[in-house]
Amino acid sequence: MNLDTSYLGLKLRNPLVASAGPMTQTAERIKRLAEAGVGAVVLPSLFEEQIRAEADRDERLAEVNMDSFGEAMTFLVDPDASPWPRQYLDLIGRAAGSGVPVIASLNGSTTGGWTDYARAMQDAGAAAIELNIYYLPGDPVIPSHDAEQRYIDILTAVKSVVSVPVAVKLTPFFSSFGAMALRLEKAGADGLVLFNRFMQPDINPDTFTISTGFKLSSPAESTLARSWIARLRGQVSGSLAASTGVETADDVAAYLLAGADVVMTTSALLRHGPGHVTALLDGLTAWMDRKGIGSVGEIRGLLAPSAETPQPGFGRYGYLHAVEQATRT
Ligand SMILES: Cc1cc2nc3c(=O)[nH]c(=O)nc-3n(C[C@H](O)[C@H](O)[C@H](O)COP(=O)(O)O)c2cc1C
Repeated sequence: MNLDTSYLGLKLRNPLVASAGPMTQTAERIKRLAEAGVGAVVLPSLFEEQIRAEADRDERLAEVNMDSFGEAMTFLVDPDASPWPRQYLDLIGRAAGSGVPVIASLNGSTTGGWTDYARAMQDAGAAAIELNIYYLPGDPVIPSHDAEQRYIDILTAVKSVVSVPVAVKLTPFFSSFGAMALRLEKAGADGLVLFNRFMQPDINPDTFTISTGFKLSSPAESTLARSWIARLRGQVSGSLAASTGVETADDVAAYLLAGADVVMTTSALLRHGPGHVTALLDGLTAWMDRKGIGSVGEIRGLLAPSAETPQPGFGRYGYLHAVEQATRT
């Protein structure tokens, strides 16, 4: 059975990737994921805000050092106040010894010098960069064109400082998601990660407070990413990564049939631990065995629409069919 796959030009032993989250935040956890068989890992994001905080701190330190009261002031500026960006580079270096490709994640929403950090990630040993553009266009006066251009500008800035591949992790909330995906590819994205899972704040009517609305995902949430991967498979030449709602080996198989190059998981690993990687891979192998499939390459995109097999179920026909069925019951 051949589970080999390629993602962003990297050779992976299988298509299962641990996506950004707490399971990849220490070298020890990454080692356990690698031992369980994972194909690659994406580190938790380093946030634009953390990089800016570090830059501000460095600037304050430089100022006080030039100051005549420099020595006294250093007591007021805690040199470890924002150590995260440097720790992050250290984590990349240690994780690189795990034997699986390590993808660093950079997360932000504005243009600015923070994007240069991608270069430091590359220099620390990241095999690729996952650029998570987590932009909440809450301001109703920002036109869609400006919101979309922001993605292109951030991607262009990151691409200009690195030579390793860059994948963009993004939301489905565009007026024309397909057109946006093609624009990102044209602007240099080596792959797309579908999708960012937005944390929708919620309101608690009992306490009159706003909560983060954070929950782990369920497989029911995977259909949007799956149908977009299927629609894009024949349209983009870069990599497609599936992210959302993987709980079982069937979920992995369905994403591969849609056309994903890799299938990512976070919630299921948090629920079941790193050993779940082995369970998913064993389940995938058993499914391939039952169906007489010899390699992942044979099934990738088998159910994606193409000129020969248009798959009307992914279009309006599927919707009408579903409505008709629901009405009949
Ligand atoms: C606790 C937690 C932390 C996460 N942190 C990050 C992060 O730092 N960067 C990021 O791009 N995605 C982050 N994610 C999103 C996951 O990488 C993933 O895209 C999302 O959870 C959907 O996949 P899943 O359904 O397998 O959980 C996080 C998810 C969870 C549950």
